[in-house]
Amino acid sequence: MKSNRRPDRDARPAGDLGGRRILLGVTGGIAAYKAVEVARLFMQAGAKVQVVMTAAATNFVAPLTFETVTGRSVYVEMFPERGKESPWHTELSSWAEVVVVAPATADHIGRIACGLGDDLLTTTLLAYERRKVVCPSMNPRMWANPAVQENLNTLRKRGYRIIPPEIGDMARPGEEQGMGRLAEPETIYGEVHHLLSAPQDLRGVKVLVTGGRTEESWDPVRVLTNRASGRMGFALAEEARERGADVSLISGPSEVIPPSGVRLTRITTARQMAEAVKREFGYCNILLMSAAVSDYTFDHTAKNKIKKGDPDPEINLIPTEDILKGISQNKGNRVIVGFALETENVLDNALRKIARRSILTSSLPTIHLQKAAVFR
Ligand SMILES: Cc1cc2nc3c(=O)[nH]c(=O)nc-3n(C[C@H](O)[C@H](O)[C@H](O)COP(=O)(O)O)c2cc1C
Repeated sequence: MKSNRRPDRDARPAGDLGGRRILLGVTGGIAAYKAVEVARLFMQAGAKVQVVMTAAATNFVAPLTFETVTGRSVYVEMFPERGKESPWHTELSSWAEVVVVAPATADHIGRIACGLGDDLLTTTLLAYERRKVVCPSMNPRMWANPAVQENLNTLRKRGYRIIPPEIGDMARPGEEQGMGRLAEPETIYGEVHHLLSAPQDLRGVKVLVTGGRTEESWDPVRVLTNRASGRMGFALAEEARERGADVSLISGPSEVIPPSGVRLTRITTARQMAEAVKREFGYCNILLMSAAVSDYTFDHTAKNKIKKGDPDPEINLIPTEDILKGISQNKGNRVIVGFALETENVLDNALRKIARRSILTSSLPTIHLQKAAVFR
């Protein structure tokens, strides 16, 4: 899987998290030392940073290091010794505007996916209802373990924001390479900054997004498809979610990790895409059709693999349903945004597409304005 990390999120504007309350959970992974830099970046931007460590994490970095960087006591124990000052999990969860777990071990991810509350950090997360960001970090073989991936999917479905690990050297340079390295502190900072600064102007709005490509089967092994990556639809869904919308994402095949906190429907063919869009269209206020849906499909799919020596392999293409055209008849007061990919006469072709689909034909500037209003 490729990371859909966006470099433009790596900006580090000083002082613009002024007073924002960030709870940084640090768990027992080798990358715990990088969490010190994450805390430092938040502090540099003016945030208040409260660190909660697991007992295992204290084997990797001393709490004193975080206390020095953040100017606050670090909490580890759910049941501190009598006389020792430590807030309850409920106080910590009421205080924080966002909880960021970096690094998040496979063990911690498993425990939060199971809803366990066996230490201060997991119990705080159980009691926490707002923005939750998890930054996994582990050996590539642990990362590839189906149990870890299933736990992460559970978290995604529950609205956790997962900042995927990166590909590169593990702790000891040159020893082992692969996916599992904690995202860079600047990336984590950028994502959290974006999360905290997004206006909530789409709260209460239902947004339906389509993304990815479709695949039409010629025979059981060959498909007609295109080169769409899925990044556009995923980025739109992510942006809408961050601005408070209730987001449904219908996606064709894509190698990119889909955003968390959205309802995801996976489809493969143009026909399945049409059916899924028609099913959900009635419930949305805004439809963003960025999927690259095949314009053609095969008139039938061969039951068995078509052989190389076949003297007359049959390829009969028939047009697929024009989804946008069909649903725009019942547009009502929804905003519908279509996307066109062209290799020539880009603007003319896109204008013709709008006219053909009769979407706001008489008010073309409106679509731009609405798009601008919604997504700028
Ligand atoms: C040297 C060493 C490095 C470790 N690094 C990682 C790691 O990077 N990621 C991980 O998921 N577990 C790692 N572990 C295993 C965790 O420390 C272990 O699962 C622990 O129980 C995690 O506890 P916690 O989730 O409560 O912090 C490491 C263990 C050792 C001994």
